[in-house]
Amino acid sequence: MKPRVLSGIQPTGSLHIGNYLGALKHWVQMQPDYESIFLIVDLHAITLYQEPAELLKKIEQTAAIFLAAGIDPKQSPVVVQSLVPGHAELTWLLTCTTPVGWLERMTQYKDKSSKQESIGDGLLQYPVLMAADILIYQANVVPVGDDQSQHLELTRDIAQRFNALYGDTFVMPATKLPTVGARIMGLDDPAKKMSKSTEGPGHAISLLDPPSVIRKKIMRATTDSLPGVDYDDMGAGVANLLTIHQAFSGWTDDQMKAHFAGMRYGDLKKQVAEAVVAGLEPLQARYAEITADPAYLRSVLRESAQRVMPIAEATVRLVKQRMGVYVG
Ligand code: TYM
Repeated sequence: MKPRVLSGIQPTGSLHIGNYLGALKHWVQMQPDYESIFLIVDLHAITLYQEPAELLKKIEQTAAIFLAAGIDPKQSPVVVQSLVPGHAELTWLLTCTTPVGWLERMTQYKDKSSKQESIGDGLLQYPVLMAADILIYQANVVPVGDDQSQHLELTRDIAQRFNALYGDTFVMPATKLPTVGARIMGLDDPAKKMSKSTEGPGHAISLLDPPSVIRKKIMRATTDSLPGVDYDDMGAGVANLLTIHQAFSGWTDDQMKAHFAGMRYGDLKKQVAEAVVAGLEPLQARYAEITADPAYLRSVLRESAQRVMPIAEATVRLVKQRMGVYVG
C-alpha cells in the first residue's frame, strides 16, 4: 500500500505563486507515489468573515485550479471539507483533549486575532480543525509551505496526547516542506510572506494573472540599492526573485549562481518574469478548459466526497469508541 498524502488550501482571495510553489506543485509531483487526498477547506475560510456568494465562487475556482495544476481527480480526490461531516465532528472530539494554552501559542492565531476587534472562537479552534483534516484520513505525509509547520507540530501533539489517553488511534503525520520555495515573500515587501489576504497590486502574483500583469508586478518588485546580483551580499528582495526563478526553472544552485551572479536587476527581473509566465502558462490554459464545463467540476467534487466519506466515518467511529461516546 502506498503511504497517504493529505493537504489543503483555503478558498479565500486569489491563489498565488506562494501557494503553488510551497504546496500545489509538490502535490502534483507526489501523486504517482502516494495515495493522495486534497482539500478545499471552506470551514477554515469562515473563521474570518467571507462574503457568502464570493466564498461559493472561490470554492469552485480553487477546485478548478487544483485540476488545472495537474491534480488528477481519478487518482486523488479533491474534497470540499464541508461535504464530509466527519471533519467538524472529529474537531469537537479533539477540542476536548486539546489544552487551550497550546492554541493560544499559535503564531497565526496571535497574528490574525491581533488584527480583529473581536474574534470568533473558530479562529482559536482553527488548528484543531486542521488536525482533524489530517488525522481523520490517517495521513502519513502532509506537504505544505513553511508557514504551516507550527500547525503540523500541534497536529502531532494532539495525536500523541489522544493516543496516550485512549490508546493507539492516530497515525503520526510527517511534515514535508519543499527545498526551494517553502516561503515565498511579498514582491512589494520581502520581509512579509506572500499572502492571499494582503492587499496591494504589487504584493502577490496570482496564478491566473495574465502575462502582462506578471511582468509588470515583477519589474516593480522591491530590490535594494546594489546594481546587480551579489551572492555574498544579497538583500531579501533579490533572494526572493532568485528563489521564484529556481522554483519554476528547477535549476540547481550552481546553475543559478553561474547564470545570475553579477546580473543587473533589470535583466534579472525580466528573466524571472519569463520563468513565471512560462511556468504558469499550462495551468492557465487548462483552467480555461475546466471552467468551461462547470457540470464536470461539480461531479468531481461530489464523487470525491463520496469516495473519502467511508475513511472519515471509520475514524470518527473509532475515536468515539475509544472515548466511550455512544455509537449505538
Ligand atoms: P493556506 O490556504 O494559507 O495555504 C495553502 C498552502 O500554501 C502554502 N503557502 C505558501 N508557501 C510558500 N510561500 C508562501 N508565501 C505561502 N503562502 C501559503 C501554505 O503553507 C499551504 O501549504 N491551514 C492551511 C490549510 C489547511 C491544511 C489542512 C493544510 C487546512 N487543513 C490540512 C494541510 C493539511 C492554510 O491556511 O493554508
